[in-house]
Amino acid sequence: MKPEIKLIPAISPEQSVICILGKERIPESLRLNKTEKEYALKQLRAGEEYVFINSYFKCTYLVKVKDDVSNYKTREELRKTAFKLRKLIRSNDHTELAITSWDAYKGAIEDFTEGLILSFYRFNKYRTKEAEDEKKNYPSKLFLSGDVDKADIDWLTYTTDAVYLARDLIHEPVNYLTAAKLASVIQKTGKSAGFSVEVLNKGKIEALKMGGLLAVNRGSVDPPAFCILEWHPEKSLNKKPIVLIGKGIVYDTGGLNLKTGDYMAMMKGDMAGAATVTGVLYAVAKYGIPIHVIGLIPATDNRPGGNAYTQGDVITMHNKLTVEVGNTDAEGRLVLADALSYASKYQPELIIDVATLTGSAAVTFSNQAIALMTNADRKYISLLEECGNMVYERIAELPFWEEYGEMIKSDIADIRNIGGHEAGAITAGKFLEHFTKYPLIHLDIAGTGLLKKDDFYRLKLGPASGLRLLATFMKMLTADYKRKK
Ligand code: BES
Ligand code: ZN
Ligand code: ZN
Repeated sequence: MKPEIKLIPAISPEQSVICILGKERIPESLRLNKTEKEYALKQLRAGEEYVFINSYFKCTYLVKVKDDVSNYKTREELRKTAFKLRKLIRSNDHTELAITSWDAYKGAIEDFTEGLILSFYRFNKYRTKEAEDEKKNYPSKLFLSGDVDKADIDWLTYTTDAVYLARDLIHEPVNYLTAAKLASVIQKTGKSAGFSVEVLNKGKIEALKMGGLLAVNRGSVDPPAFCILEWHPEKSLNKKPIVLIGKGIVYDTGGLNLKTGDYMAMMKGDMAGAATVTGVLYAVAKYGIPIHVIGLIPATDNRPGGNAYTQGDVITMHNKLTVEVGNTDAEGRLVLADALSYASKYQPELIIDVATLTGSAAVTFSNQAIALMTNADRKYISLLEECGNMVYERIAELPFWEEYGEMIKSDIADIRNIGGHEAGAITAGKFLEHFTKYPLIHLDIAGTGLLKKDDFYRLKLGPASGLRLLATFMKMLTADYKRKK
């Protein structure tokens, strides 16, 4: 369960507390005795990141933070310290815990709390018994006290709620989360957050001639779904919407070009892009960001069934382009392409797609950066870069030169869905570019979106890569529009 966050005017002396210290100075309000204080200061001076004091009736955790907040790494260090403390906190079985600060930068409480909440996540739905390490619990209430704004608490609540939601979706196996089920969860999410959702069923997808989505779906016994999420506040600041597109492959076997070895291991999470887009719409709607945002999610599994699409097939896409299938495992770009083409009806200001698209992106950047390719105005990229540093979901750009486009030429159709062995992430991006004339930012989260082990509070399997990044981007765009008005 996700802990509840509440703002309180002051901590009481009996409360167990985490205090973030900007200097090697301990406030009186913590009511530590002389011995405890001396011990704590000694530890902090020796360079310890945190000190734990178990008094008879309460626990005190002291966390040291640098005061150089102009360096975004300071903020990240605090989130990581929160992750490192999670086991100790659990071992103390608190029902509630207070978090405060002393001499620390403004925002330290929020950053630490964010790291802590994201570290507390567990996917327990299918456990019938408690796991060994689950006998003790994380606190279910976090009381924040100090220089914290209500709006910042709301933002923290909604974005972490969104991450939990996205992580739940990524963890769900395909024997539960079919394309139709994903669509129904998105519909429920829309109702609870206040954005509208329309789901196009197989008949509508056929009527729209979304050849990419239909081709990938042919090997499946379950129908595809195409979800349209819309947040259109009355006083939106943008005339034309921002469209977010998320890859919704609920399972990627590779199709007839079946994945071998261990490559299928995490492929229930090949809808991480869809989970991220759903989460961003949730946070944006809950917080009431005055920006018109549309989310498009093409969803299906990719399987080698009786009527599966084959290597060599030629498909006619939603925008009428023909595509020769060079590999059925390059399915993500086919479903995204139809969504990109469909997005034209909105005449968007900007399109951002998020997808676990290529092994190549993961090979290039590992889990350290989201691969970005773009033809959009640089002002968006600078802002995205800034947001990436702030929330520490960093982006790294790959070239998007037209020469790379040569690599996906086909002998018999307009284009092919694979390039050669080289520059795989870039040729995938180049493929997508054929399906829209609107400015595009393509985010490949194959390296960051599905993790084999915890990367601190970015927990293993599905950390919900790109969610905090894009939610923050939307929030920062608001300020940008307002400045121009
Ligand atoms: N979903 C995979 C990409 C992927 C790989 C995501 C590893 C996360 C971790 C995608 O559909 C895929 O299979 N891509 C192929 C494309 C190739 C056949 C051109 C790849 O990258 O190997
Ligand atoms: Zn694939
Ligand atoms: Zn895939």
